[in-house]
Amino acid sequence: MTPASVLDYRALARRRLPHFLFEYLDGGSYAEVTMQRNVADLAALALRQRVLRDVSRIDLSTTLFGRSQSLPVALGPIGLAGLNARRGEVQAARAAAAAGVPFCLSTVSACTIAEVARGTTAPFWFQLYMIRDRAFLRDLLGQARDAGCTALVFTVDMPVPGSRYRDYRSGLAGAPGIGGTLRRFAQAAARPRWAWDVGVRGRPHSLGNVAPVLGGKSGLTDFFAWMRDNFDPSVTWRDLDFIRSEWRGPLIIKGILDADDARAAADIGAEGIVVSNHGGRQLDGVPSTARVLPAIAAAVGGRLTVLADGGIRSGLDVVRMLALGAHGVLLGRAWAYALAGAGEAGVGHVLQLIEAEMRVAMALTGITEISGIGPDTLADD
Ligand SMILES: Cc1cc2nc3c(=O)[nH]c(=O)nc-3n(C[C@H](O)[C@H](O)[C@H](O)COP(=O)(O)O)c2cc1C
Repeated sequence: MTPASVLDYRALARRRLPHFLFEYLDGGSYAEVTMQRNVADLAALALRQRVLRDVSRIDLSTTLFGRSQSLPVALGPIGLAGLNARRGEVQAARAAAAAGVPFCLSTVSACTIAEVARGTTAPFWFQLYMIRDRAFLRDLLGQARDAGCTALVFTVDMPVPGSRYRDYRSGLAGAPGIGGTLRRFAQAAARPRWAWDVGVRGRPHSLGNVAPVLGGKSGLTDFFAWMRDNFDPSVTWRDLDFIRSEWRGPLIIKGILDADDARAAADIGAEGIVVSNHGGRQLDGVPSTARVLPAIAAAVGGRLTVLADGGIRSGLDVVRMLALGAHGVLLGRAWAYALAGAGEAGVGHVLQLIEAEMRVAMALTGITEISGIGPDTLADD
């Protein structure tokens, strides 16, 4: 099958990845209500078709945080994405650079900041979680600065992790022990192509940026146990002073779902926010991002850059998010499915698909530039 859409890449990812990795990528927390809402609420937004408007030239470029880019899209942070393909984050960063859009490296990536910096020519963004050990945090920020990262995405919707039932069922989560390891080994063996390409040729697997604080352990269950114990639930707005003192570049606060929180982000001088519910992986039952975005954009859209994510599976969805008030979007699972399905080429292809879908959506809504997308782009129904 030649993939023609993000969902085709999802199907390919399911066939290529060991079961526990696909479930980790594809799943959400608890009953996955919010995860499904993200997709369904976007899909339900009807676009307003307009005709006879000379759409022979469509410009998709935009400027985010002072840098121009080819599309109003960035590859959002996905933990462990680097296990979806050999040295996967490097491949994704290269694809993003070739397409002219930013790549954001997760704190909990498989490749280190330095490896990604060595592997790509374009600057990238770094995503930070609040970790109890401030010296380690300071060190990470220093690495991001030294690597020339152009923005810091500070994720605030994970003071504690949401429970993802699929990870328990697959053997990824739960107490460290031989049982889970054997199950994962069997699942990897059932995907020989992945086992050879990523499991063998992709070595060493050291769990990237957090390897130095894992005390010599490199198992996935040890890694999740470390996350549970070391993410800092005491984090407040006051900690932003610490981040600001260590990071001079643009600061983007990710995980905002409420207009009051968005105002607080603007008040502390953040350059951007990401309206996000972590792809439905944290508090199941919260609204979709599409539903809360208009009120948040109305509250702070004139004061900072509003990005949004959650459920974007096509260029039409990107146009819908912009119509709801976002200045740009982050792709999440969309790019990670493509990385699992076809590596760097797959991520590049998904970005081409998104671009082509956006062009058609804009042509048929009669819009020729990104700033022309707004509430009028949606049909009232
Ligand atoms: C497997 C997986 C891992 C993720 N890891 C991170 C992470 O390390 N840091 C972060 O800020 N967000 C993380 N997210 C959330 C994404 O950045 C993004 O908000 C979400 O995937 C958007 O929803 P979508 O996948 O439906 O597009 C992760 C999401 C997934 C699916």
